[in-house]
Amino acid sequence: MEHLKKLIKEAELDFSKCKSLSDLDHTKAKYLGKTGPLTEAMRGLSGLSKEEKPKIGAFINEIKKSIEVALLERKKLIQDEELNFQLKSETIDVTLPGRKQAQGSLHPITISMNHIQNLFHSIGFDIATGPEIEDDYHNFTALNIPKEHPARAMHDTFYIDKNHVLRTHTSPVQVRYLKDNTPPLRVISPGRVYRVDSDATHSPMFHQVEGLWVDERVSFANLKGVIQDFLQKFFEDESIAVRFRPSFFPFTEPSAEIDMSWNDGWLEIGGCGMIHPSVLTQVNIDTEKFQGFAFGLGVERLTMIKYGVSDLRPFFTNDIRFLKQFEI
Ligand code: DAH
Repeated sequence: MEHLKKLIKEAELDFSKCKSLSDLDHTKAKYLGKTGPLTEAMRGLSGLSKEEKPKIGAFINEIKKSIEVALLERKKLIQDEELNFQLKSETIDVTLPGRKQAQGSLHPITISMNHIQNLFHSIGFDIATGPEIEDDYHNFTALNIPKEHPARAMHDTFYIDKNHVLRTHTSPVQVRYLKDNTPPLRVISPGRVYRVDSDATHSPMFHQVEGLWVDERVSFANLKGVIQDFLQKFFEDESIAVRFRPSFFPFTEPSAEIDMSWNDGWLEIGGCGMIHPSVLTQVNIDTEKFQGFAFGLGVERLTMIKYGVSDLRPFFTNDIRFLKQFEI
């Protein structure tokens, strides 16, 4: 019994040397395990007399309990130490700046397209779209450019097959819209167009906005007013003037290039004209009663002028450093 009593002190000492829970587990087995001294002593009970058995049994249990208490105390101490260490090593410096959420932004061409649509919508223009894979009839023939007409050479066309092209301009939407609607009407049609062309100022895909106004008394003066008003609003500059340079488009007569004043000079931003009677006749509009104007604007061009970008290519190469500058 003396020998067993000493075990308590011995265990306490052993436990106190344990630095971690796994150390402690190992040491625990030495005292409380199946081959430990207490288990052995219990086994020895069978050789004792009836009177001695319960007394010694109770004594062994006391010892066992004391060792278990010492074990628990040590365990708690180690756990506390581990927790303290963790708290100290994993502290967060709440004075550090937060991590910023990266926010996406609209592409500059999208910003322009939205802006253009809002401006025309605000003066009563409808917005219509058409297919990018267009048939020969709508892209050319109905616009007064029949097969073999030399004006087809103005368009470097991507052909899908003999009868279909990637539309070379947004003008075919004029024909589609005029077929489905009756004048008076005002509409713009924004969208992608395609041409076999690629350098610093040309891209095989680019954007146009087509405009159309048909009524009983629409004149070139109205066209000038609409374009000038639009440009002044788009560039937020009341001093912008427009100039019409005589030109040729098969679907307008007379036709003109639109120039806008910019930095003591003039910049070309699109084409326009009075809709050619043969286009109106194609869609069964009475040319004795109605006339109208049409225009086509280059969206990349307007965007480059607005933001002072001199090369077209960064609009299509998706360099985030370029695109980030247009966050609004
Ligand atoms: N469709 C022409 C082009 O892409 C631009 C254009 C010129 C459109 C005159 C028009 C217009 O509506 O009247 O070159």
